[in-house]
Amino acid sequence: MPHGMDVDYDGLIPNNVGLNADLRVRKALETWHPGYIDWWKDMGPEGFQDSLVYLRTAVSVDPQGWAKFDYVKMPDYKWGILLAPAVEGRTIPFGQHKGEPVWQEVPGEYRAMLRRLLVIQGDTEPASVEQQRHLGKTAPSLYDLRNLFQVNVEEGRHLWAMVYLLQKYFGADGREEAAELLRRRSGDRDTPRMLGAFNEATPDWLSFFLFTTFTDRDGKMQLAALAQSGFDPLSRTCRFMLTEEAHHMFVGETGLMRVIERTCQAMKEAGIDDPSDAKAVRALGVIDLPTIQRKINLHYSLTLDLFGNEISTNAANAFNAGIKGRYREDKLADDHRLIDDTYPVLRLIDGQVAAQDVPALSALNMRLRDDFTDDCDSGLGRWNRVIEQAGVNFRLHLPHVAFNRRIGEFSRAHVTPDGALLSPEAWERQRDRYLPSAEDAAFLDSLMVAETRPGHYAGWIAPPRTGIDSKPGDFEYVRIAE
Ligand SMILES: [Fe+2]
Ligand SMILES: [Fe+2]
Repeated sequence: MPHGMDVDYDGLIPNNVGLNADLRVRKALETWHPGYIDWWKDMGPEGFQDSLVYLRTAVSVDPQGWAKFDYVKMPDYKWGILLAPAVEGRTIPFGQHKGEPVWQEVPGEYRAMLRRLLVIQGDTEPASVEQQRHLGKTAPSLYDLRNLFQVNVEEGRHLWAMVYLLQKYFGADGREEAAELLRRRSGDRDTPRMLGAFNEATPDWLSFFLFTTFTDRDGKMQLAALAQSGFDPLSRTCRFMLTEEAHHMFVGETGLMRVIERTCQAMKEAGIDDPSDAKAVRALGVIDLPTIQRKINLHYSLTLDLFGNEISTNAANAFNAGIKGRYREDKLADDHRLIDDTYPVLRLIDGQVAAQDVPALSALNMRLRDDFTDDCDSGLGRWNRVIEQAGVNFRLHLPHVAFNRRIGEFSRAHVTPDGALLSPEAWERQRDRYLPSAEDAAFLDSLMVAETRPGHYAGWIAPPRTGIDSKPGDFEYVRIAE
C-alpha cells in the first residue's frame, strides 16, 4: 500500500512508503538496522532494555487515532518510516521557485544544501536519547518513566526518518552519512554531536522537563520550517514528525507544571510566604522557584544557540532555494520572496544591545527564533498561572536573548537575564544568581531517587491530572524487569 495512510507492518521495517517495492532502499535500511539496534542497546535507556513499557506505536498517519498502545520491550519497538499523506497539486510555497510544482526528487543544484540540513536534523535525534539515557534510574514515577521512554523511542524513529531520506535520495553519500549518525556520541571529546546543546548533560529530571520544553520546541520550529519545503518527501516526513513532537513538549511542559504545583502546595502547607527563602523551601523536599528560574535561564539560552547566527547567508540561500521556509509560511500574508523586506534583529552595537533592521532574507534565523520565543511565552504563561492560583508571589520569566550565549552576536558579551551588560568580573561574581550553581545541582541530585511503585510519586512532583491513554492512577506504565 504505497503512500497510504496505513502502515505496512509485514516486513522488518514498518512503513507507508511502499518499501516492499523499493528493493534498493529496503536493502540499505536493512543493512543499517543491526547497527541501529546496537546503538540503541549501547546508548539508549540504561538498565531498562528488558522492561515492558506501555508505549504508543503509529499504525496510521491519520491525525485522528494514529497510535496503538501496548506493552513493548524497547529494542522491539516498531521503528519505521512514516510520511504524512501527499497533498494533491502542492506547489513550492516560497522563494525563487514559488508556485512551481513541488519536487519529488532532489534538484541537483540543492543536493549539498539538503544533505547538510538532513544530517544536522538527524544528528539531534539520537543525541537527545544519549543525553537522557541515565534518567530512567531516577524517575519520579512509572508514569514519568514511561513518558521518558516514549520520547526516547520516538527520537529514535526521527533518526530513522532522516536516514530514510538520506538513503533514498543521496545514494552512497547518504549511506555514509547514515552510518556516521550512529558513530557520533553526545558529549564525546573526539566525535561529539554536531550542535552544542546536544552535547550538554541532562543530569536530572528538572533538566529533562526543560529540555523537552525548550529544546524539543526548537525541534518543532525547525521541523515546521522544513515541513514547508519544496522537496516534498522532506515536507511529508516533517509533517508526521511534528505530530510526535507535540507529545515531547507536552511531557516537558506538564512535567514542569507538576513540579511547580507541588512546590507551591508544600509552601502553603508549611506557611512559607517568601518564595526566595530557598533554605526553608528545600527543607520541605521540594524545588524552590528561584532554582527553577535558573534552570529555565540555562536551558532557554542553550536552545537559542541552536537557531544559529543572527545574520545568515545559509538561511537566505535555503529560503531562496525553496528548501526551508518560515514558521507557518503557508499562513503568512506577504509575497513569500522577501527580496526587498527588512526584519529587526537585536545586535551588539557600540557595546549596547540594540535593534537593527537588516535584509529579511539574512534574518530568517532570527525570525524563526522570535517565533520560538513567542511559543515559549505561552508555555511560561501556563506555569505562571499555577503559581498565581496557588497565591504565591513569584513569576517565572524567559531571560533576555543576549543572556549566556555561545553563538552569534552576544557570545562575546556578559549579559544579565534582564539584558544589562556586565564586565567579565561582575559576571563571574553574579553568575550563580543567574545559572544553576554546583549547590543547586547537589540539591537536585539529592531529590533524584526513583519511585517505582505504581501510582506513587516522588515528593517533589505532583501526580498528573489524567493518565496516558486514559489509564487509572495506579496503572503500571512500566513493568520493570529484575
Ligand atoms: Fe525529534
Ligand atoms: Fe522531540
